[in-house]
Amino acid sequence: MSGSRQRKRSEIYVGLMSGTSLDGVDAALVDLRSRPALLGTAYMAYPRALKSALLALQSSSRDELHRASLAGIHLSGLYARTVNRLLRKYRLAPGLVRAIGCHGQTVRHLPASGYTIQLGNPALLAERTGIPVVADFRSGDLAAGGQGAPLVPAFHAAVFRSARVHRAIVNLGGIANITDLPPRGRVTGFDTGPGNVLLDAWIGFRLGQDFDRGGTLASRGEPIESLLGDMLRDPYFHRRPPKSTGRDHFNLGWLRRFAPGRHAVEDVQATLAELSARSIGMAIAEFCSGAREVYICGGGAKNTDLVGRIARALPRASIDSTIELGIHPDWVEAMAFAWLAQRRVKGEAGNVPAVTGARRSRVLGAIYSP
Ligand SMILES: Nc1ncnc2c1ncn2[C@@H]1O[C@H](COP(=O)(O)OP(=O)(O)O)[C@@H](O)[C@H]1O
Ligand SMILES: [Mg+2]
Repeated sequence: MSGSRQRKRSEIYVGLMSGTSLDGVDAALVDLRSRPALLGTAYMAYPRALKSALLALQSSSRDELHRASLAGIHLSGLYARTVNRLLRKYRLAPGLVRAIGCHGQTVRHLPASGYTIQLGNPALLAERTGIPVVADFRSGDLAAGGQGAPLVPAFHAAVFRSARVHRAIVNLGGIANITDLPPRGRVTGFDTGPGNVLLDAWIGFRLGQDFDRGGTLASRGEPIESLLGDMLRDPYFHRRPPKSTGRDHFNLGWLRRFAPGRHAVEDVQATLAELSARSIGMAIAEFCSGAREVYICGGGAKNTDLVGRIARALPRASIDSTIELGIHPDWVEAMAFAWLAQRRVKGEAGNVPAVTGARRSRVLGAIYSP
């Protein structure tokens, strides 16, 4: 069978996710013949220089179009190396992969201005892997009047919904988003605000660490209630969904407006963990009020301090990792982009209008052939 005929019969996809945490690239090899099955994974951390370049591009600065284009080229190189490593690891020929779903790296998310920007150079990624790439998943939803985010709720509904139990999913990335999965009726969801982004920013700023492993620093501190109260007054927490946010809003500059340097480093870390937990807890209590089972995914699932705080903020629900539903929390989002790529290839809608606020369902993404 020729390579292209083999590919057209394949339902194996690769999902690539690089989120607001700017930690690196998650790659998932997924069999999408029926219920999505994870065949393999690979992760590559961002090299220091790329991480700094991407961080600098989060706000406007000199010659940013040029620097953004170069960063996109570097990213596509790293994405290609991650895909090639994944395929080598599992001895799979590129011709057997139907497509790569590549989210790209968000450097601006400004739905109120009508746009969101993900860097990544998908044409170059297709060229370097020999595999078609689906990219630019968000702009179609924005064009239809939506936020372009979050996009993972459609996947959560496809794999985690139960016909009996009311569930909610919490994705603890840099930004946290929730998906409400009642057994019947509408699936909804939105970004609740910070997940790990402020935790990473503070420990990075004060101690030079990338993140608070296990939440150890936060667990040694005491939340400062007055500071927490001030932070919780941020209008984002009180806006009604549909809503989405990013580093454009929640970043080190946001945090420094509260003059956190007056307090002990561990107490601020505990306050920020409590901020993530309470904002998630409030959002679930208000918008997923019947949820009895809450499942956590994303890198923050490894932060036992944060997960404990979320559990305390939701005394009426059980809290578990998505591993209990068969998918390891580290790979849910990368799998979602493999699944969204398949939706694009099949010409099926990828957004949930009740989540993003779009006027209608849209087929999301653009295809770049090798
Ligand atoms: N062992 C750990 N302990 C605490 N936090 C962790 C751990 N591992 C990862 N994280 C957190 O998860 C983040 C990465 O999560 P991820 O789901 O990749 O987010 P994003 O989608 O925003 O990239 C890291 O920046 C860090 O804050
Ligand atoms: Mg990440």
